[in-house]
Amino acid sequence: MKAKYNVGIIGATGMVGQRFITLLADHPWYDIKALAASPRSAGKAYKDAVGKKWCMKGDIPENVADMTVMNAQDDVEKIAAMVDFVFCAVDMKKDDIKALEYAYAKAECPVVSNNSAHRHTPDVPMIIPEINPQHLDIIPSQRRRLGTKRGFVAVKSNCSLQSYLPAMAVINRKYPIGRALVTTYQAISGAGKTFETWPEMQDNLIPYIGGEENKSEVEPNKILGHIENGEIVPSSELEIECQTYRVPVSDGHTAAIFFSFKDGIEKPSVDEIQDMWRKYEGEPQKLGLPHAPKQFIYVYTEENEPDMPQIKTAREIDGGMAISCGRLRKSVQYDYKMVSMSHNTLRGAAGGAVLLAELLTAKGYMD
Ligand SMILES: NC(=O)c1ccc[n+]([C@@H]2O[C@H](COP(=O)([O-])OP(=O)(O)OC[C@H]3O[C@@H](n4cnc5c(N)ncnc54)[C@H](OP(=O)(O)O)[C@@H]3O)[C@@H](O)[C@H]2O)c1
Repeated sequence: MKAKYNVGIIGATGMVGQRFITLLADHPWYDIKALAASPRSAGKAYKDAVGKKWCMKGDIPENVADMTVMNAQDDVEKIAAMVDFVFCAVDMKKDDIKALEYAYAKAECPVVSNNSAHRHTPDVPMIIPEINPQHLDIIPSQRRRLGTKRGFVAVKSNCSLQSYLPAMAVINRKYPIGRALVTTYQAISGAGKTFETWPEMQDNLIPYIGGEENKSEVEPNKILGHIENGEIVPSSELEIECQTYRVPVSDGHTAAIFFSFKDGIEKPSVDEIQDMWRKYEGEPQKLGLPHAPKQFIYVYTEENEPDMPQIKTAREIDGGMAISCGRLRKSVQYDYKMVSMSHNTLRGAAGGAVLLAELLTAKGYMD
């Protein structure tokens, strides 16, 4: 590992891009050297390009405020020559994002992406660092296909998944889950909005988020899948049915989950499940990565804290990188029911991508 890596942020002016700026401003391993966005922002100082759209707590960090924003599509080669890798979070058509991310990868600049465009490309790893770090082993196959030495694309999953899949995946390692019914209650920042830019969400609930139900049902199986012949083969073991709601919450996605184990599985007790959650350590914890939460899954018990996890406290745990679970109890129609939540723009978006980059760096993929 090098002492420091130079990084770029593609989509730096957006909601997720701004989170990257705040998370990377004082990062022990990374220095921000390039910022890029659309032609609307290119050529402007970052503080002028982002202007009133800045929605993070605190001011724009000094080390980026006067940096000139580059053109994400026209300046690929220039940016690739300035940095060791880029983070990417852009609002563009899916095919354009695919092409953009491949352009950086082919310019030998690894891409850590928040976008959904490549989530189902079979040799692009979709990683929750604590759950499926072994999928990074697919990168040499992807590099062969792209004809690159360093360049590749790695993605994180949809933000809503990270409110419930980690808790289920930890149980699933020992006690395979067969089916689950999931309802997600998703914050407005997941749509890139605040209450100022989306006042209609005050005192409101929208029972529809385009495309999210399908993502929540399909993406978990890629994360629980295995590598075979240079591709990630999705698992066919777990069936999830999902409904998604947009709720009047600024940050933090919550999920209500009913689940049953596969037939013939001896069922664990509530205590055993909670113990597995408390004791679980993934690669980020073992490697001591800078953004790894000390405790990945934070547990509230039904006896002591039946009204938890609540958004306002739980989303702050360990810098917004922990997952919180509560209300685990027996169900009438399924084996168990529970509630879990995570911060959607930290663990679910920029923070999850920074943790993925740290894992890639620690494993030597950024050298
Ligand atoms: N918000 C979340 O919680 C969340 C969570 C997970 C994943 N994501 C994903 O992350 C991505 C960004 O989301 P967001 O909420 O940050 O969106 P956003 O606030 O609308 O920001 C979009 C960014 O994309 C840039 N952009 C737009 N058109 C472009 C073009 N033609 N070329 C280059 N850059 C262009 C914008 O630059 P200008 O300012 O110059 O227009 C801006 O920097 C999306 O793919 C989204 O699905 C978001």
